[in-house]
Amino acid sequence: MANPPIAFLGTGAYVPSRILGNNEIAQRVETSDEWIVTRTGIRERRIAGPTETVSDMATAAARAALEDAQISADQIDLIILATLTPELTMPATACLVQKKLGVSERAACFDLNAACTGFLYALDTAWALLASGRYRHALVIGAEKLSSVLDWTDRSTCVLFGDAAGAAILGPARTNTQGILGTRLHTVPGAAELLYIPGPEVSPNPLDLRRLLRMKGREVFKFAVRAMEDVARELLEQHQIEAHQIDRVIPHQANLRIIDAIAHYLKLPLDRFYINLDRYGNTSAASIPLALHEARQQGKIRPGDLTLLVAFGAGLTYGGALVRW
Ligand code: COA
Repeated sequence: MANPPIAFLGTGAYVPSRILGNNEIAQRVETSDEWIVTRTGIRERRIAGPTETVSDMATAAARAALEDAQISADQIDLIILATLTPELTMPATACLVQKKLGVSERAACFDLNAACTGFLYALDTAWALLASGRYRHALVIGAEKLSSVLDWTDRSTCVLFGDAAGAAILGPARTNTQGILGTRLHTVPGAAELLYIPGPEVSPNPLDLRRLLRMKGREVFKFAVRAMEDVARELLEQHQIEAHQIDRVIPHQANLRIIDAIAHYLKLPLDRFYINLDRYGNTSAASIPLALHEARQQGKIRPGDLTLLVAFGAGLTYGGALVRW
């Protein structure tokens, strides 16, 4: 008998309790709630507490996903954690999460960095490893403490990002509709300077402003619209699916104007897209699993639904996935 397809068995998310609204940022840098809302759609974001770590947030999201999937930690034999803000340079944050969750030594645990496309890169990797038959249940996490890499004096970047974690359990499908149908991942070469965080070669002091996130916003905006539309069309064509057959799109939550443009080009109504960037801003690798989990909780993704996940990020990376629930 053929192996069952690999499917999402559960999802979970965690956001820190501290809310940072636009007006509070406007007290620190020259900006306004009106500018941020009109240009981005973001109203507020969450900020991790000083002692709240990436592995704390990832573990909380993972616990929720395990409960949702009704799977125990000892059934997990693969943890892939996507982040651009790892807790330590080594070991991988996935190893810290393994310990906190009580996942056994049999599990392979590693981090992966594809910036804001990180969750889709981790999903694709986990899917391939599970489909190979070498692993049975994967915990795939996107977790970020972006507040620690932002220059809070740079109004063009500090208003955009927030902290959060999202997680998913992947494993053999339990119903005959469920399954990951396809994924596509890409990277534009030679575009690193558009969005980056320098390393210690720039300054040995991690608090030096030159060590923090830098971005050419306008160029990234244009790339984002082109890349997400391209990869969405590529997947649809490959699977002979018409855009209108998609029940829900889960886009990377970076800017409402970017999502609006994709909806326009794909000729889909905006209400087909799940949007929570107004409350969380851009949480990078956590953005898609956080949105997925909320959409499921709100009944906006139901069993049998077809979803398109689509993201872009530093690299420049981009990618998409088609998932049936
Ligand atoms: N408040 C007020 N003014 C601001 C501002 C802020 N927070 N940030 C930038 N500005 C100013 C700029 O200084 C510029 O002023 P100038 O015309 O006097 O030079 C003006 O607003 C327009 O800047 P521009 O960068 O052209 O704005 P924009 O409409 O492109 O919006 C972004 C800026 C960053 C919101 C937008 O480009 C964007 O979302 N890009 C994609 C970023 C992204 O998604 N990054 C994550 C990738 S995963």
